[in-house]
Amino acid sequence: ISLKAFNTFGIDVKARYFTEVTTLEDLKAVLTQKEHPDKFILGGGSNMLLTRNIDALVVYINLKGIEVISSTEEEVDIAVRAGENWHEFVCWCIENNYGGLENLSLIPGNVGTAPIQNIGAYGVELKDVFISCHAWHKENAEEQVFSLEDCKFGYRDSVFKNELKGKYIITQVNFRLSRKDHKLNTSYGAIQQHLEDSNINSPTIRDVSEAVIAIRRSKLPDPKEIGNSGSFFKNPVISRLKFDSLLEKYPNMPSYRISDTEIKVPAGWLIEQCGFKGKRFGDAGIHERQALVLVNHGNASGKEIWQLATEIRATVKDTFDIDIEPEVNVI
Ligand code: EPU
Repeated sequence: ISLKAFNTFGIDVKARYFTEVTTLEDLKAVLTQKEHPDKFILGGGSNMLLTRNIDALVVYINLKGIEVISSTEEEVDIAVRAGENWHEFVCWCIENNYGGLENLSLIPGNVGTAPIQNIGAYGVELKDVFISCHAWHKENAEEQVFSLEDCKFGYRDSVFKNELKGKYIITQVNFRLSRKDHKLNTSYGAIQQHLEDSNINSPTIRDVSEAVIAIRRSKLPDPKEIGNSGSFFKNPVISRLKFDSLLEKYPNMPSYRISDTEIKVPAGWLIEQCGFKGKRFGDAGIHERQALVLVNHGNASGKEIWQLATEIRATVKDTFDIDIEPEVNVI
């Protein structure tokens, strides 16, 4: 079958074998069958670029369920199955006045894939509300619980992208959210601006969520309209020394301080300076409002997108002597 509808880039590659898993029993049966030893695990498909057909058995994880495990007056612990849509879960939290995820509104993808790259936006990361996740070993179907520490979360990074890459299937994520005195994070300039413009002085979690949704809609393409995978590259971290020398040539270069010696530079700015913003090569392109997002205008192949990414990388390297690394999983 075609995987076009199963990846937000909308890349039309084929899966030779495909199966959907909606219960843990299904998952057990799929993992213990001997016919297809090679398995390709697919969740929301929002952080991958498929450049070839898949010969392995594609296992589409569609486990559903949201359950409150425990709650006090202040906090609530919630268990969510991997196949729940991320944004729908965030909306459910807002409806129930559970705080902590509002800044992560409208991120494409599913709950089960959120820990893999420690999704983050507008000053909040998954790790800030994460308690643990349950994952099954791909080979022996044994379940293991990973604590916050076990996951080794970093900027768009976790143990599941490194030493355990491809070894586990996340089936459930457990969150701890606030029920009152929500600690809002409105530090991000555009959120502050949006709240001010709407004359909101003491914002609720819903106000913050709405601000984030408005900001994202204004610069990020909706995968339902134009295929994309969000930020294609990570923002690079460079030494202060290098930053200072670049600043002489590019006095307007934006930056975030990481430490006394390290600075993070927005890759979107670097790519825009190289003249790529809004460009289109066949159906592969760079979004017109956010240069960090590569887009599929219709029928681009994964290889064409990857070719464009490679050219962007080389040009940024030539111009700034900075390496930018893909954030998406390139297959
Ligand atoms: N910029 C440009 N040109 C562009 C894009 C950005 O000059 O085409 C400049 C902006 O003017 C701004 C700076 O770069 O000064 C930062 O831009 P923005 O606020 O859009 O954030 P970002 O660093 O490009 C990151 C995340 C996003 C997340 C936003 C908000 C990464 C790789 N990306 O983007 O995450 O939504 O911050 O927190 O860290 C994603 O991971 O898919 C994603 C969308």
